[in-house]
Amino acid sequence: RIVYVNEDYLPEEEARVSVFDRGFVMADGVYEVVSVLDGKLIDFDGHQARLKRSLEALQIRNPLSDEDYLAAMRKLVEDNDITDGTIYLQVTRGNPGDRDFAFPPEDTQPTVVMFTQSKPGMADSPAAKTGWKIITTEDQRWARRDIKTVQLLFPSLAKMEAKAKGADDAWLVEDGKVTEGTSNNAYIVKNGTIITRELSSDILHGITRAAVLRFAREAQMKVEERSFTVAEAQDADEAFVTSASAFVMPIVAIDGAQIGDGKVGSVARRLREIYLDESR
Ligand code: PDD
Repeated sequence: RIVYVNEDYLPEEEARVSVFDRGFVMADGVYEVVSVLDGKLIDFDGHQARLKRSLEALQIRNPLSDEDYLAAMRKLVEDNDITDGTIYLQVTRGNPGDRDFAFPPEDTQPTVVMFTQSKPGMADSPAAKTGWKIITTEDQRWARRDIKTVQLLFPSLAKMEAKAKGADDAWLVEDGKVTEGTSNNAYIVKNGTIITRELSSDILHGITRAAVLRFAREAQMKVEERSFTVAEAQDADEAFVTSASAFVMPIVAIDGAQIGDGKVGSVARRLREIYLDESR
């Protein structure tokens, strides 16, 4: 694989980042995951806008222009022959040359890394036909989930808890209400209404979420942006999640309780079709 590191395109074995990099020692960095379908970047503008918001929130200088990011992503897609897959982009506060809690001087160069992940046929994932089973677990992340930081230890632990219980993913719960999935936004459908938590610093403002809600409203589907409990979700007609890598993924069981008839729901199936059709 050819990867990008600070304006260089290198074989992955040759790419290097300092041991003092703030991303490595302090998780001081932000990231984006952009999907690629038929060689085309999906929702690049939305991901770029969120990247800039994340960087600003952490006062990390943005070292590249939108055009630079776009050109680099396109080159990686081409050099690595990616038809379907994802591009991972990470920007950290860079290498201060030592470990220190205080930020390094303003002129420290942020570190930019990008790499591709090839996932042939990802839009036709068999999981989308059977749906995911999920568990729920207490949300123990920090309070600024609207910033897409690389500190992913808690979501990773929650994913492992789900796997240990034979499930595909976990929904995180705070004050009795679902916040979101480990790496996706959470939805239920009740009597035809799509319900998903309102935007705040409690959740990541998903780029796929924004697109799916727009398409749902355009298709005259009812949308309610509000939080919901696990009990309400278990009693819903359907449930699903959205993300750049899973698109719209149906949920068929929550903590062992079957959702609806335990099969992929019609609203989730339709939204997945619309999203894939409209984004490509
Ligand atoms: N995760 N919520 C969380 C906590 C996420 O990590 C993600 C994305 C989302 C969905 O956002 P979007 O629709 O913009 O992908 C919601 C990416 C895919 C990841 O970490 O791999």
